[in-house]
Amino acid sequence: MKPYQLKKVATMTLPEIRSLFLQKLNHLYPETEILSFFHLLLEHHFGTRKVDLALDPELMRKEWPEDVFLEALRELEQERPIQYIIGSTEFAGMTFRIDENVLIPRPETEELVTWILETADDKPPLRILDIGTGSGCIPISLALKLPEAEIHALDISEGALELARENARRLGAHVNFFELDILTAQNLADHYDLIISNPPYVRLSEKNEMRGNVLKHEPDLALFVNDDDPLLFYRKIASLSKESLNENGMLFFEINENLSEQTCKILSDLNFRDIEVRKDIYGKNRMIRAFKK
Ligand SMILES: C[S@@+](CC[C@H](N)C(=O)[O-])C[C@H]1O[C@@H](n2cnc3c(N)ncnc32)[C@H](O)[C@@H]1O
Repeated sequence: MKPYQLKKVATMTLPEIRSLFLQKLNHLYPETEILSFFHLLLEHHFGTRKVDLALDPELMRKEWPEDVFLEALRELEQERPIQYIIGSTEFAGMTFRIDENVLIPRPETEELVTWILETADDKPPLRILDIGTGSGCIPISLALKLPEAEIHALDISEGALELARENARRLGAHVNFFELDILTAQNLADHYDLIISNPPYVRLSEKNEMRGNVLKHEPDLALFVNDDDPLLFYRKIASLSKESLNENGMLFFEINENLSEQTCKILSDLNFRDIEVRKDIYGKNRMIRAFKK
């Protein structure tokens, strides 16, 4: 009988892997971003953090299985976002599972959640609705901070809802997710104290300002609107909210930085009060809060 032979796993040291990443990806990403991919992969696959490398120089000398790094490198060369490659991202201090059915949650949206929570400090909302929930990052973050609130969230995408439900289950948040096309909805069938939405708002003409990793891999359904009516989601959601918000109820939107005035006008035409635009950390007009009279 032939002796059993162990298959030899191909290996590389971390400095070798790191310089291969820098060499193959430098035409696509800045060096700091390439190094952050390398560290995210190391932590995701082996639980080894950047700080561990500083504490234990032996880790840089030893051999590591190269296959997971080379596979990820191939995907990064195709501009697949690292968050989809590792299947997760951080939002509001928590890890959310994500895939190509959902937008990768952005830091600007964390800022929106922070603003909602600041506002909720004065008078906690009891019934909340998130429109276009994607990964569920907004309602799940709110549910964990506002345990008294009853939280609902909708999306048109079944794939997104499946992932959002899984995120809620994993993170221990109670959110009622349901499928609805908000553009064809006649009404919201219920009343809320707070309605939030980060709807699609990138005009097709703004596509050329976006990076390949967003354009090729994130869902068009989550991102784009036609140039001839870029605010259709805001008009529809604001008018449905006008009917469905309780007295003094609040409406929060993430917005297109180039369309803040026009978005405010939709709200003032519908008689919302105390309409306020807030900038994100990059100084861009990024979110709006308004109250129902
Ligand atoms: C910009 S993403 C926001 C996702 C998530 N709320 C976030 O902030 O990361 C917009 C979301 O709206 C959903 N959407 C697009 N058209 C919709 C429609 N007609 N009705 C309901 N949801 C819709 C998309 O599937 C997507 O999940």
